[in-house]
Amino acid sequence: MSQFTDAEKEAMKEEAGIAACTFVESGMKIGIGTGSTVKYTILELGRRIREEGLEIAGIPTSDATEKLSIEQGIPMLDWGGCDQLDLVIDGADEFDCDLHLIKGGGGALLREKIVAESSGGMVVVADASKRVEVLGAFPLPIEVNPYGWEQTKRRIESICAGPVLLRGTNYFTDNGNPILDAHFGATIADPVQLESDLRAIAGVVEVGLFTNTADIIVLAAQGGCEMIRKPTARL
Ligand code: A5P
Repeated sequence: MSQFTDAEKEAMKEEAGIAACTFVESGMKIGIGTGSTVKYTILELGRRIREEGLEIAGIPTSDATEKLSIEQGIPMLDWGGCDQLDLVIDGADEFDCDLHLIKGGGGALLREKIVAESSGGMVVVADASKRVEVLGAFPLPIEVNPYGWEQTKRRIESICAGPVLLRGTNYFTDNGNPILDAHFGATIADPVQLESDLRAIAGVVEVGLFTNTADIIVLAAQGGCEMIRKPTARL
C-alpha cells in the first residue's frame, strides 16, 4: 500500500468497509469489529438503518465501536440476551492464503475473538498491505493478565525468537489488561500450533492469532474489491 496516497488508502478502506455490508440482511444479529476499516462498515450500516429500514442488532468488540455504533443508531445487544450471532465483520492486521489472521493491533483481540467464536461466519475487511505469505511481520498482540505479566513475558520469550515488548506502561485494553507484542518476524509457519502453545501459558488471556475463523476476506483494491473466499466458507 506504500505506493498509495493516504487519501487513496482511505478510499480503499471505505470501499471494503461498505462492500462487506452486502452480507448483512434484516433480522440478523451481527458482531461489529474494531478498526479504521470497520469504521466504514458501521457508517454504512447506520445509513442503511436510516435510509432503507434495515433491522439489525449488534454486539460491539470494543468501547470505541460501541460508541460509534450507538451514534449511528445500531441497536446494541449484550451476551445476557444473545448466545449466537449470524456473522461478524472485522478487520485484520495480516492474513495468509489459508485466511489465518493476526489481529489486535487496535488492542481489541479478546472481545474480537469472543465475538468471532460466537458467529456463524466471519467477514474480514482489509487492504492489500495486509496480505502476506507467512504471518508474523506484524508483531503478534498477546493480551495478558496484569498479575505477573513480567513472568508471562519471559515464558512467551522462550518461544519467540524476537523481542516481546510491553505495549506501553500505561496501555491497557478495554478489559484492563496489558498487551505484549511478540516480534516473531515472518516465521509463523504453523499458526494453529502457535496459537495453542501461547494459549497454554498461564497469564495469557488471549492471542491475536485467529486461525480457521475467517470465511471471506473483502480485499480493498483500487477500482473495486476482491472477495477471497475459503473453500469451506460458511457464508
Ligand atoms: C483491533 O484490535 C484489530 O484487530 C483490528 O481489527 C485490526 O488492527 C485492523 O484495523 P484497521 O482496519 O484499522 O487496519
